[in-house]
This record gives sequence, C-alpha cells and structure tokens, in this order.
Amino acid sequence: MSASDWSRASRTRPASTSSCPVVRVGLAIATSIRVRMEVSGVRSSCEALATNLRWLANARSRRFSMSSKVDTIAGDQALTAQDVPALGYTTMVLKEAMRLYPSAPFLGRLAVQDDQIGGYHIPAGADVVLAPWITHRHPAFWEQPERFDPQRFTPEQEKARHRYAWFPFGGGPRACIGQHFSMLESVIALATLVRDFQFTAPPGEPARTNHITLRPTR
Ligand code: HEM
Repeated sequence: MSASDWSRASRTRPASTSSCPVVRVGLAIATSIRVRMEVSGVRSSCEALATNLRWLANARSRRFSMSSKVDTIAGDQALTAQDVPALGYTTMVLKEAMRLYPSAPFLGRLAVQDDQIGGYHIPAGADVVLAPWITHRHPAFWEQPERFDPQRFTPEQEKARHRYAWFPFGGGPRACIGQHFSMLESVIALATLVRDFQFTAPPGEPARTNHITLRPTR
C-alpha cells in the first residue's frame, strides 16, 4: 500500500473498519503512540504547572506581580495563543520553575561508538546520563542556583548563557517535539490560574518522587 493510499484510506473512513490488516495494525500503533505522547506530554506540563503554583503560593509578591501583569493584558477575557508574546513574565516564571524542578530530571543515551567527552573516555555501549536536575543547579552556570529567580530568563540573560545550561526538553535530534506547544499551553494555563484563583501551599520544599517524570508526592 503506497503512502497516498494510506492517507486516502485514513481520511475517507475510520481505518479500524478497514479490511486491510496493515491499515488496522498501523492505526493501532499510531493510536498508541499518540495516546502515550499526549499523556506523557500533558503530565509533564501538569507537573511544571504544579511546581509553579506551589512556588507562587509560597511567594505572594511574585503571585501579585504576575497576576497584575496578566490582568493588565487580558482583563477577564479568556487568554489565547495571541496573548502569549505579551506574557513575558509568566514565561520567565515557568522557565525558572522548570529549571529547579525539570519534569524529566535525567535523560539517557547509549554510546554507539567510542567517544571522548570533557576529557573522559566513553566506551561504545556505555549508558550516558544527562542530568537537567544537576546542570540546572550547577554553580558554573547559575548564580545562587537554589534561589527561585525568574529574572534569570530575561532575553539578555538567556542569550548570555550556555545553550544547554537549561534543557528541560532535552536537545538534539531526540528533543521534545511538544516543547513549543507545551510552553504555549502552560503559559496560558498558568496565567489564567494565577489570575482567577488564589493558591495556598504548605511551607517548605515539596517532597518529590521520580517515576520517569518528577512529581510532587503531596
Ligand atoms: C512541560 C512539558 C514537557 C516536558 C518537560 C517534556 C520533556 C521532554 C523530554 C526531556 C524529552 C526527551 C528528550 C531527550 O531524550 O533528549 C521529551 C521527548 C518527547 N516529548 Fe516531551 N515534554 C513536555 C511536553 C510534551 C508534549 C505536550 C508533547 C506532545 C504533544 C511531548 C511529546 C514528546 C515526544 C513525542 C518525545 C520523544 C521525541 C523523540 O524521541 O524523538 N512532550 N519530552
């Protein structure tokens, strides 16, 4: 079956009803990939949002400054993608929360051949762990790394930093394909939530657990 047959078949009727077994199996695989993609993407976005709200609930001045910015821009209208460029501070807050609490704190790669990284020999077949959790708190890149400070994400500061000092969405050919969508939906959701609700949180650092993605336990 050619690609154009495939696309015609899936457009004209549900492929699950197709008599062609290739189409039925293909649809099952595509559906499973899409469901996994959407579930994991939504969960990552939710975890980033949960972290933000927790931080904001613990810091009233931050909440107020963000809330007044959102109010000025949007009144009580529903926010849309068109508003996002004007929500610069909300975006900075979101990025700072993702720095301290990246939803994927560790990423893995398998070395396909011998290599040399930072003076270390990496043999073929070795597991290589990249750790946003550690890099995002590394004093070589971040001044007072444990402090929550959205000002780290002004366009000037971002430009001055190493490209991979912040990589909650990974990088390279296998980087997150949902990054732009996720930033868009998260900025809109965060700005709307902060505008419309008041959040409270117990004081102190949230306890976390890591099940592929990092999430609060309470
Ligand atoms: C805050 C939200 C999100 C975070 C933090 C996040 C993070 C990540 C990370 C760290 C990776 C692995 C990159 C690597 O190994 O280098 C990844 C991969 C991926 N993400 Fe996301 N993600 C988010 C939202 C989404 C959304 C909304 C979608 C889909 C709509 C999505 C779809 C994917 C897919 C399909 C991959 C696999 C890409 C590949 O292997 O080629 N993600 N994501």
